[in-house]
Amino acid sequence: MAKGFEGVCGLMAGLMLGRAAGMAADGVAADRDGWIAPARSLGTGLLLEAPLDLSGFTREKFEGMATTVGEGRIRRPWTNAVVSLPPHGRRGAMGLSEAEIAGYMKQARGMFERGEAVVVSDVGLVSTQEDVIRQPMLNHIAGFSNDVARVYLLVQRTASDKGWSYYSIVQDLTVEPAMDYFAELKAGGPRFEAASCITCHASGPLAIHPAREDLVLDAGLAAALSRHIAGQPRSRMYFPPNEKRPANGARLELKFCSRCHSDDGERAALHQLQSHSIRVLVDFGYMPPNRRLTVEEVGELRKWLEAGR
Ligand code: HEC
Ligand code: HEC
Repeated sequence: MAKGFEGVCGLMAGLMLGRAAGMAADGVAADRDGWIAPARSLGTGLLLEAPLDLSGFTREKFEGMATTVGEGRIRRPWTNAVVSLPPHGRRGAMGLSEAEIAGYMKQARGMFERGEAVVVSDVGLVSTQEDVIRQPMLNHIAGFSNDVARVYLLVQRTASDKGWSYYSIVQDLTVEPAMDYFAELKAGGPRFEAASCITCHASGPLAIHPAREDLVLDAGLAAALSRHIAGQPRSRMYFPPNEKRPANGARLELKFCSRCHSDDGERAALHQLQSHSIRVLVDFGYMPPNRRLTVEEVGELRKWLEAGR
């Protein structure tokens, strides 16, 4: 991501050269061979709760719980991280209908259930940390696409839940900017919603961030799917007519974030509404993507976050 090299001081540039040579730069979310960097709290003081102790949650427990979704559905062999869908039925579509979006969501679910999806399984970092659920959050994520849509399926449960819940995001690529539809897939079909999703999904689908290096199946696939997600077009969120937009709160204007997260940046602007994901992604060293914040910058961010509480 060449863009990230702008405005980086000499020391950081040195660290990044180290990365290019394959050395790990301490504290920087460097990706090893393009893999997702392991989650390690930098102890920034931005978290409201101490990082959750997952030491008792072994790889074996994770695999055992993940597999309850159905043996043949996960851990499938793959060459492409994203499964191709047949071409869209309606030629020259400009703006997909709600029925067409719902159709893609059901198609993704059907393919997952028949063992036709390529699935990344992990314990996600963002939902596991802080007071969101405060226990391991197990995810199965699959991506699909054709010329008009990027389709994502999330099959999720907490470590203590019994059953799995289904969610989907469909990006309509026939409009500019792309339109993201969010839904929970209920027994009766998809139920569009947005207000309960925008707190984390500020800019559409989220890149994958496992809570621990060994809580992912498989790491190479996770990295490949994450790259596909990170490379998505700028998009906006579809709010169903019956839903009220939640208040955004103050906009994050700190330059070291807003040079990428702004109306004309590569990601949508961030607001107080997203404070949970901001705290977690910065504390675990993922944001900003290619350097570590200085102590002063962390202080400024903390002040901004505290002002919004
Ligand atoms: C507490 C934060 C949070 C909320 C709220 C949230 N998500 Fe997510 N979601 C995530 C994270 C984090 C990931 C990536 C998980 C990982 O790293 O494994 C994700 C992944 C997904 C994915 C897979 C594609 C992708 O973005 O990676 C779908 C589909 C999805 N979420 C749908 C929804 C829907 C629909 C809602 C609202 C009903 C919602 N999410 C609410 C945090 C959240
Ligand atoms: C160099 C550009 C860049 C800078 C600077 C940057 N980000 Fe990001 N941010 C990204 C990209 C690209 C993604 C999506 C890919 C990913 O999550 O790895 C992202 C994702 C996020 C997300 C998840 C919501 C979303 O947009 O997908 C949050 C929250 C976030 N960043 C917070 C921050 C904060 C807080 C700062 C400042 C401390 C910051 N970022 C600085 C590029 C940047």
